[in-house]
Amino acid sequence: MTGRTRKNLLVLVPLLCVIAGMGVLVSYSVTLYRLFCEATGYGGTTQRVVADTAVPSARMVTVSFDAQVADGLPWAFKPLQQHVTLHLGEEKLVFFYAKNLSNKPIVAHATFNVTPTKAGPYFNKVQCFCFSDERLAPGEEAKMPVDFYVDPALAKDGNAADLANITLSYTFFPAAEPSDIQELSRFDPGTPPDANRGQALFAERCAACHAPGRNMAGPMLGGVFGREAGTARDYPYSPALKQSKLVWGIDNLDKWLADPQALVPGAKMPIRVLDANTRRDVIAYLKELSARDQRAAR
Ligand code: HEC
Repeated sequence: MTGRTRKNLLVLVPLLCVIAGMGVLVSYSVTLYRLFCEATGYGGTTQRVVADTAVPSARMVTVSFDAQVADGLPWAFKPLQQHVTLHLGEEKLVFFYAKNLSNKPIVAHATFNVTPTKAGPYFNKVQCFCFSDERLAPGEEAKMPVDFYVDPALAKDGNAADLANITLSYTFFPAAEPSDIQELSRFDPGTPPDANRGQALFAERCAACHAPGRNMAGPMLGGVFGREAGTARDYPYSPALKQSKLVWGIDNLDKWLADPQALVPGAKMPIRVLDANTRRDVIAYLKELSARDQRAAR
């Protein structure tokens, strides 16, 4: 190659990238794109959090991606790259693809999960697009960016010293109650809490991160009712929650689920349950779980 052609290429290649990038941008489903933006700060819609202040470290990790669709949801959903290797603190942009394979519009929502569990707290940029209900028209497809980084604080975690591989997986579920807003307007304060409905909602909205009897991305929740916050055994809590001295009961669980960071600034649970009815029933289920645990312990 002559010096001249090389120079031309040096100009051409970045230009082509920009043009290709713009093509990708216009092909996003507007709504999914918005959600991913809100979730990840891509496009500057929300806090870009610590990325600017995080100093990239020499330590590398490989992040693999996994995408699943729950039974009964006729969507194709896959990551557009299998894995990326990056420095701690380095920001990366990756893409997922979803398509509605049916001939009906479908509302679904995604949950995410980080494994191994001990890596979960260091993925604090991947946020709440999960659990927002999302709609794809018949045959509609969408490419969704996820902008993330792994917190360099991971390097200081003695527990995670050997951690070189992390998996980020998303699962799309059909939305049982497509509109929180609509449901909110039906809210009747006279209705008694329904623990059975709470159990179904827990499976749908909490089980990606929580189980009754073991720690996952979130702490185990069996016995959480009446328990002091931040005390599940061996779970790596945020310092904020650990030091909160809250004892979980109906009122503070309701506030926690409505907005964890408002109740405990610095807490790391990345979702909010906007609907009061849903919170009430999930809390009824947690209460029942705890009562069951106590009976079993006797
Ligand atoms: C995307 C993952 C994720 C989802 C989904 C999630 N949580 Fe959490 N949850 C967490 C994390 C992480 C923490 C720990 C927060 C911290 O350390 O600051 C947590 C903490 C909690 C706690 C405090 C437990 C303790 O031991 O103090 C409760 C209660 C809780 N979650 C309830 C729920 C309920 C109910 C749902 C479903 C409506 C839910 N969470 C959905 C990640 C999640």
